[in-house]
Amino acid sequence: MNMRTGMIRHPGHRVTTMAWSFVVVILSLFLLSQNELSASTGAEIVVSECMACHRFTGEPTSRFKLLAPDLIWAGSKYQRDWVIRWLTGQEPPLYAKGYRWDQGEELERHMTVPRSRAELIADYFEEYLIDPRVKVGAFDISTITKKEVEFGAQLYKEHACIGCHRIKENGKLVGGPQSTDLSESGRRYKVDWLYRFGINPQDYVPHSGEFLADVSELGLRYIIAFLAVQGRENFPYFEPWKTKEFEQASVARGQQLYKEYCAQCHGFTGQGDGPAASGLSPKPAIHANIPFDTLPMEYLYNVIYHGGRSVGKAPIMPYWGLTLGQQGVADVIAYLRATFKGKPQAAPGKPGAPSGVCPQPRQTKQAPPEFQRLTNPIPATEANIQAGKRLFQETAKPLACKQCHGEKGDGRGPLGAALVPPPRNFTCSDTMKTISDGQMFWIIKHGSPGTGMMAFANLSDQEVWQLIQYIRTLAQ
Ligand code: HEC
Ligand code: HEC
Ligand code: HEC
Ligand code: HEC
Repeated sequence: MNMRTGMIRHPGHRVTTMAWSFVVVILSLFLLSQNELSASTGAEIVVSECMACHRFTGEPTSRFKLLAPDLIWAGSKYQRDWVIRWLTGQEPPLYAKGYRWDQGEELERHMTVPRSRAELIADYFEEYLIDPRVKVGAFDISTITKKEVEFGAQLYKEHACIGCHRIKENGKLVGGPQSTDLSESGRRYKVDWLYRFGINPQDYVPHSGEFLADVSELGLRYIIAFLAVQGRENFPYFEPWKTKEFEQASVARGQQLYKEYCAQCHGFTGQGDGPAASGLSPKPAIHANIPFDTLPMEYLYNVIYHGGRSVGKAPIMPYWGLTLGQQGVADVIAYLRATFKGKPQAAPGKPGAPSGVCPQPRQTKQAPPEFQRLTNPIPATEANIQAGKRLFQETAKPLACKQCHGEKGDGRGPLGAALVPPPRNFTCSDTMKTISDGQMFWIIKHGSPGTGMMAFANLSDQEVWQLIQYIRTLAQ
């Protein structure tokens, strides 16, 4: 009864509760449908959520008239995965000091949307925001070599790019954070857009790219190659020496090329005595003394295709890629490997021994005094010595030290005999005790001009000190 009364007593209350729930359900359905409706196309999302800040149509204009970067050509510009990550809040800001730093704008986190909406926006970009000026496939990323990226990295600094766009070096952000961050540009941009931007940046943002204006066509290729690999670990670099041009290389054609292009300096029989040699310092390498088939193909390719400077050697060893093409370079390398096997090594200490002589005559230029005085700042721990050993024997680029200085450090590596003056004999303590740590540091970083000792500018200070720790263990 009580129950019944209760039931009778409460209906009004119940109705109110039900009505409320009803309202809530309707309301949320309404809100949801609102949401769903506007989410039904990317275009609608863009209109309602993005246009307050970004432009989607119009002519390029000064960044100082914009609230945010233009998205007029977003479909051609960004990789889809990056757009999704950006819009779902998984990417760091691009403009570290705020896009409108001139107005004292603080950096704000970019708005985010749920993944489903980000997908719709990306669809919209790809369908409607395509730039007809960008040729798909214009930049063939599959032909980029490591060396070209290295050149790009140099140009990036020489042309001041680093002054306004940060990149990552050894895991650290470096450069001026004025414009967009390019440290992960290989994961953000479509490379064809980057390339088109590079051809004339004014077509996108007026007064943003005059710095590229005096870069050569090849230089542009290198810079774009450099940007295209930023943020991409394990990028599959092109290795020309593994292509069909090398498979089908011809020794006979190579011999002809050698006669026409190389003998003028290196001599017809590879003795380094061509007509031009008398005026050159350093002297052309004596090919007859080099066992070419022991040298890494990557090194041979680079020194011939890109010239001496590309491997830290003298720029008077010309770059042949443009003259001979890929096939010509392959042919001439085939000729070198088939013809020159190196000279039999004389016993150390005997006349005619390429090195191994002790004490060793030494005319190396003195390092500047502030380097002379340096002592090795890292301890001679087993780990440091082993790290130095690995570089010396295997990993140093462009060429492992042992190729000239020899596995034992006695200066009798495969290339050693080709060089005048010969490589330093690190096993000779009489000579080595006269050479300071700082002197070695300087020569390893800068090379010994006029000799075969190349510059290893790409090694970090730490690596050079590790090498020196190792070299000190070789003296007997
Ligand atoms: C309140 C203004 C604002 C709104 C709204 C806004 N953005 Fe942005 N957006 C910016 C700013 C500022 C940047 C510069 C990047 C940064 O944060 O450093 C940016 C950067 C971007 C970038 C990278 C541009 C580049 O080339 O550097 C994309 C892509 C982008 N926004 C897409 C969108 C989309 C899509 C929407 C709508 C869903 C949107 N944004 C809404 C202000 C806004
Ligand atoms: C003095 C500063 C400055 C220098 C130096 C500079 N840039 Fe820029 N760069 C800009 C500005 C400004 C923009 C337009 C984007 C923006 O509004 O920040 C831009 C845009 C770009 C973009 C397109 C970015 C995007 O997402 O739209 C690339 C790529 C780029 N620069 C590469 C380079 C390269 C390569 C160099 C060197 C050759 C270089 N920049 C030198 C200021 C500079
Ligand atoms: C204008 C003169 C000149 C011409 C022409 C020339 N070279 Fe050289 N080459 C040099 C000089 C000088 C060096 C030594 C550079 C150094 O030690 O810094 C050198 C070094 C080399 C080396 C490196 C050997 C080493 O010690 O690592 C190779 C390989 C080589 N040349 C191949 C060629 C080939 C192949 C051709 C023809 C396609 C050629 N060179 C044409 C001047 C020339
Ligand atoms: C292509 C041959 C070649 C390669 C590779 C090479 N060197 Fe040398 N190195 C030489 C020659 C030649 C000399 C003698 C230079 C001279 O007489 O001035 C030399 C001299 C030196 C000296 C003595 C400097 C001095 O003041 O006497 C050091 C130290 C040295 N090399 C370290 C290295 C290290 C470390 C590596 C590897 C990272 C290396 N070299 C790779 C050819 C080479």
